[in-house]
Amino acid sequence: MGHGVTMFIMMLLGLMAVAVQGEDPYLYFTWNVTYGTISPLGISQQGILINGQFPGPEINSTSNNNVVVNVFNNLDEPFLLTWSGVQQRKNSWQDGSLGTGCPIAPGTNYTYKFQVKDQIGSYFYYPSTRMHRSAGGFGGLRINSRLLIPVPYADPEDEYWVIIGDWYTKSHTTLKKLLDNGRSIGRPDGVLINGKTAKGDGSDEPQYTMKPGKTYKYRICNVGQKNTLNFRIQGHSLKLVESEGSHTVQNVYDSLDVHLGQCFSVLVTADKEPNDYYMVASTRFTKTILTGKGIIRYTNGKGPASLNLPEAPVGWAWSLNQFRSFRWNLTASAARPNPQGSYHYGQINITRTIKLVNSVSNIQGKFRYAINGVSHVDPETPLKLAEYYGVADKVFKYNIISDAPPANLNMITVEPNVINATFRTFIEIIFENPTKTLQSYNLGGYSFFAVAVEPGTWSPEKRKNYNLLDAISRHTIQVFPKSWAAIMLTFDNAGMWNLRSENAENRYLGQQLYISVLSPEHSLRDEYNLPETQLLCGIVKDLPKPPPYST
Ligand SMILES: *[C@@H]1O[C@H](CO)[C@@H](O)[C@H](O)[C@H]1NC(C)=O
Ligand SMILES: *[C@@H]1O[C@H](CO)[C@@H](O)[C@H](O)[C@H]1NC(C)=O
Ligand SMILES: *[C@@H]1O[C@H](CO)[C@@H](O)[C@H](O)[C@H]1NC(C)=O
Ligand SMILES: *[C@@H]1O[C@H](CO)[C@@H](O)[C@H](O)[C@H]1NC(C)=O
Ligand SMILES: *[C@@H]1O[C@H](CO)[C@@H](O)[C@H](O)[C@H]1NC(C)=O
Ligand SMILES: *[C@@H]1O[C@H](CO)[C@@H](O)[C@H](O)[C@H]1NC(C)=O
Repeated sequence: MGHGVTMFIMMLLGLMAVAVQGEDPYLYFTWNVTYGTISPLGISQQGILINGQFPGPEINSTSNNNVVVNVFNNLDEPFLLTWSGVQQRKNSWQDGSLGTGCPIAPGTNYTYKFQVKDQIGSYFYYPSTRMHRSAGGFGGLRINSRLLIPVPYADPEDEYWVIIGDWYTKSHTTLKKLLDNGRSIGRPDGVLINGKTAKGDGSDEPQYTMKPGKTYKYRICNVGQKNTLNFRIQGHSLKLVESEGSHTVQNVYDSLDVHLGQCFSVLVTADKEPNDYYMVASTRFTKTILTGKGIIRYTNGKGPASLNLPEAPVGWAWSLNQFRSFRWNLTASAARPNPQGSYHYGQINITRTIKLVNSVSNIQGKFRYAINGVSHVDPETPLKLAEYYGVADKVFKYNIISDAPPANLNMITVEPNVINATFRTFIEIIFENPTKTLQSYNLGGYSFFAVAVEPGTWSPEKRKNYNLLDAISRHTIQVFPKSWAAIMLTFDNAGMWNLRSENAENRYLGQQLYISVLSPEHSLRDEYNLPETQLLCGIVKDLPKPPPYST
């Protein structure tokens, strides 16, 4: 072979190696979203299925994978999926909330494209509009650690999803109508574990099996509408290893309170008598306790599961103490090889404190929920699109709430609730909950340090009680009744991000807002351009596309 040809082949091989290394792998999914009849509580009802499945199929990804999901909406209503906990670096376009994108029209398809960049952990996706989440369309989203990055525990024998949630037998359209009429959706009818609950009459098939002596990872997420759930497994303890993307100090618990929207990964070892055991999820802080059950079977035996279910804890002080026991493992690797604790969030100066107080009010006979006196409504033109096209002033006003709540929280106005945050600033957000109901908030685009949760009202002196060392970094935080919670984060991800109540009723009736984070550079380094395929609606539909960022 001539020298030139050899050189050429070597160059070609080199280029191929670069191409292979240069781009992270792609995972492709095609999802058909349809109605279907399901009867998780023994009563037939209309569910939302993905590829015929309820709950929907899992996304099994690894840090930095590119995920491409082509979603065919075969419902008779607009549909939108959000990827709870996926940080969508530079890419709020794909976040799937009504403030960032248009819903997929019935009978059409849309392809989400996003990267699960520098993240690990257990997450879930769900439909973000019209009470759809109450009918299904949700599923697990796992992000495995890359091979070469050490994980602080041995590889489990297998991994099992535990998607739990309270459940209504009323259809999502009925629930939506109740809310549209300013009424409550009332109490749920049951609790599901992976879309079902065991009858306990001996006819139940096991959901999962465990080999004696082996250790399994259970990924637990609460995708419900209204209630915190306590999760436990008869006779077995739960060793907490991960929570919403953080490797935790590996404490052992009899049970975990999983607030709305939260996820945990735990290890469970099959070291008990070879019988069946119930996993149990039951509502917390409710007068009537609803319970969902599922069977786990040892492969070397199948004595029936005892009907003597382990008790749930009582009261929310227990839950508060459990929150305080969650600690970041400072020496464990993050999604990248550097240790989690190398990010010293406790030493960064706070540039701004935003205090958000929730309230509920009755406006002309209809309930609305609000944050700092404003009850959010989604305009027809997504906020992000309005901003990008330079027509924000025609769609919404920035900063109608201020960083402190108004004196009279019962005076509620109903309008889009959008605040600005300066790019790369370190901000403290206080959630204060003067109501008697537990709140749970999720922030898109970020994870934050949950530094304190305490009873009473917040004041600056309370900062001395913050955990500034090893609080876990997560995306959803609960606020107990008549209590407050403090979170801290750097707003380094440009985009339009939804801060929302995880309680379906509160969210639907306005307890949410958007945080606009703009990079002053208008650079591709900080934010991706509007994707070519982005759905357009509202007043931007026929406007000429703004020139894209080129550098
Ligand atoms: C989706 O499912 C429906 C109902 O089963 C079927 O009619 C339709 O052809 C499917 N669409 C796609 C794109 O698979
Ligand atoms: C998930 O992906 C990982 C990494 O590619 C693979 O090892 C594992 O078998 C997959 N699990 C399932 C259930 O597909
Ligand atoms: C709709 O699906 C078709 C067929 O898979 C695909 O070629 C097309 O790109 C999809 N359209 C959108 C907007 O995602
Ligand atoms: C924290 O992570 C390190 C490093 O992987 C591991 O050796 C250690 O056991 C973990 N500590 C706890 C308390 O979980
Ligand atoms: C933080 O603020 C303190 C007091 O104002 C100041 O001394 C210190 O230099 C600041 N630290 C940083 C990293 O800006
Ligand atoms: C918020 O951001 C918008 C869009 O860049 C800008 O026009 C407006 O002046 C900002 N408002 C404040 C109060 O910073």
